[in-house]
Amino acid sequence: MEREVCLVQAKILEKYKWGQYILFYLFAPEISKLAKPGQFVMIRVSEQFIPLLRRPFSLMSVDPSEGRIAIFFQIVGRGTSRLSQYSPGESLSLIGPLGQGYSLSVLKPGDKVILVGGGRGIAPLFFLAQQLKEKKIRVMIFYGGKSAQDLPLKSLIEEELGVEELVLATEDGSLGEKGLVTEVLERKEIWPRIERVYVCGPEAMMRKIARMIEVWGVPGEFSLETYMGCGLGICWSCVRRIKKANSWSWVKICEEGPVFPGEVIKWEED
Ligand SMILES: Cc1cc2nc3c(=O)[nH]c(=O)nc-3n(C[C@H](O)[C@H](O)[C@H](O)COP(=O)(O)OP(=O)(O)OC[C@H]3O[C@@H](n4cnc5c(N)ncnc54)[C@H](O)[C@@H]3O)c2cc1C
Ligand code: FES
Repeated sequence: MEREVCLVQAKILEKYKWGQYILFYLFAPEISKLAKPGQFVMIRVSEQFIPLLRRPFSLMSVDPSEGRIAIFFQIVGRGTSRLSQYSPGESLSLIGPLGQGYSLSVLKPGDKVILVGGGRGIAPLFFLAQQLKEKKIRVMIFYGGKSAQDLPLKSLIEEELGVEELVLATEDGSLGEKGLVTEVLERKEIWPRIERVYVCGPEAMMRKIARMIEVWGVPGEFSLETYMGCGLGICWSCVRRIKKANSWSWVKICEEGPVFPGEVIKWEED
C-alpha cells in the first residue's frame, strides 16, 4: 500500500527540558495532517557527518490546526545528546510519518482502555490518548519509571489529556505507587472491564504485560523499539520475529510496525 511520507525542514517552536528528557514542539504542517498515533519520524540529529544515521522518534502529539507536532525523547547516546542541543528557531530535517500505528477503529464510544507507558515510552501513548478522547473512549493511563525524574510528562497529561485515571508508578516510590508499573497494574485487577491495552516501553515491561493480558484474554498492542538505519524499509537493520500465517518470519519493524498485537511478537528474553 502506497503511503504519503514527507521530507521536511521543521522549525523548533518550543523546547522543554527535565534532566535527561526533552520535549520539542515543531512546525511541520504536512506531517501533522497525516500522522496517526504510534507512527514515527526519522530525524537528522546533526549537520555533521557523525552521527550519520537519522534516529527514530514517535510523534508525541499533533495539532493540524496549528501545523504543530511534538516529539519527546530521552538522552541515551550520541545522537540524542546532539539533538538535545538544538534550540527554538533552529530547524531539523524530518522524514515521516512512518510505520503503522495503534488501531482505534475497533473501539466504540464508552469503551474503556488502558495505556501503559514506561519512561520515554509514554510518547506515542500521549498522542493516542488525545485521539481516544476525541472518540469518547474512557482512558486509564499507567505511567511508570525508576523515579519521579522519569515521569516529567505527569503535569502535561493531567492538564491536556483529561483521562479517567492516571496511575503513576516509580521503583523507588518517589512518586505515585511504589514498584514496577507491571506490579502496580497487576494489583489493580481491572482486566475484566477493559476492552484493549496499548503499550510502549522497555522490552521486559512489554513482555510481562503481554503475558498478563494473554491470561486475562484482553487484546493488546505493543510498540516495538529496534535499531533503525533508514526507517524506510531499505536496510533491514530493524527486523524482529513476528508470527505470520502461523510461522515466525523476520519482519521489518519500520514498515510493518512498530505497533503489533501482542500475540504475534516473539519476545526477547532478558
Ligand atoms: C519506532 C521508534 C520510536 C522511538 N521513539 C522514541 C521516542 O519517542 N522517544 C525516545 O526517547 N526514544 C525513542 N526511540 C528510541 C530512540 O530512537 C533511540 O533512543 C535513539 O535512536 C538513540 O540514539 P543515540 O544516538 O542517542 O543512542 P546510541 O548512541 O545509538 O545508543 C545509546 C544507547 O542506547 C541503546 N539504544 C539505542 N537505540 C536503541 C533502540 N532503538 N532500542 C534499544 N536500545 C537502544 C544502545 O544500545 C546504547 O546503549 C524510538 C525508537 C523507535 C524504533
Ligand atoms: S530501518 Fe531500514 S529497513 Fe527498517
